[in-house]
Amino acid sequence: MRVFVTGASGWIGSAVVPELVGAGHRVVGLARSDSAAAGVAAAGAEVLRGDLDDLATLRAGANNSDGVIHLAFIHDFTQFEASVQADARAIETMGAALEGSGRPLVIAAGTPALPGRVATERDEQVLGSPVAGRFLNARATLDMAARGVRSSVVGLPRTVHGDGDRHGFIARLIAIAREKGVSGYVGDGSSRWPAVHVLDAAHLFRLAVEQAPAGSRLHAVGDEGVPILDIAAVIGRHLNLATASAQAEDFGFLGQILAVDQPASSVLTRELLGWQPVQPGLIEDLDKGHYFG
Ligand SMILES: NC(=O)c1ccc[n+]([C@@H]2O[C@H](COP(=O)([O-])OP(=O)(O)OC[C@H]3O[C@@H](n4cnc5c(N)ncnc54)[C@H](OP(=O)(O)O)[C@@H]3O)[C@@H](O)[C@H]2O)c1
Repeated sequence: MRVFVTGASGWIGSAVVPELVGAGHRVVGLARSDSAAAGVAAAGAEVLRGDLDDLATLRAGANNSDGVIHLAFIHDFTQFEASVQADARAIETMGAALEGSGRPLVIAAGTPALPGRVATERDEQVLGSPVAGRFLNARATLDMAARGVRSSVVGLPRTVHGDGDRHGFIARLIAIAREKGVSGYVGDGSSRWPAVHVLDAAHLFRLAVEQAPAGSRLHAVGDEGVPILDIAAVIGRHLNLATASAQAEDFGFLGQILAVDQPASSVLTRELLGWQPVQPGLIEDLDKGHYFG
């Protein structure tokens, strides 16, 4: 397949491109800067220069492809709503280009937070949450199945970890522990944190673009829910710091997230696509030490 990938230069895109190329697909990666273009080309993809707001470029990228994986997102949490709207326009533009063709459009989203219960692929985020806009975009994508698009949504857990993760939530948690001199957790530390290794996530994106049925909601979940206390303990051990309960405010924007129990399962995804995570789980990956170099 010739696959158009937005966000090809990002953390997950940098794993998805080689995964696709390694499986014999041709990849065209969207890149908005020279450095992103160089990285995308080095990973074995053709480069399409453009920005998410450049809808004509997105349309052309989708038109000239056998399918799209949409990973680009403007991670500016000070203007989250504007980022969600840009995402919505990009999804609609690329979906319209694929309309009636049966070609796939796969987008990234999060897994729902349903405290006290393990979220499955059948669950949707309750509207009214801070990230509800992204779930509306996910729903709009799934609705494109009725317009002849083989659309699917890959729900990613809170952390997509692996060697080279420099700005994900785990990297941030480690930076905060270093800053404060203590490895903290919120409350009693029992809130569960779902996770996946970036290479396992990349594999699922490939399976989705190759074969997910139209309208599939998928979960790229390796660990269903690691208690935040266990994460703090392993970080404390590696940094030689004490582990202690702290106020949510001590973690900045991450505090709200840490306090929420968000376990999620991927049983239905595994059954549907035969996906099987094979990479280390979050604790094992942390214990490899690469986050602490
Ligand atoms: N990583 C996680 O733990 C996680 C968890 C849940 C959901 N997700 C979602 O998964 C997707 C991929 O995440 P990621 O971790 O790979 O993010 P990332 O490392 O921040 O990469 C974002 C990608 O989007 C591109 N991008 C940003 N603004 C753009 C713009 N205006 N025009 C064109 N491209 C633009 C970036 O290009 P540049 O290289 O030029 O900046 C980069 O390729 C996102 O939708 C993210 O929200 C990630």
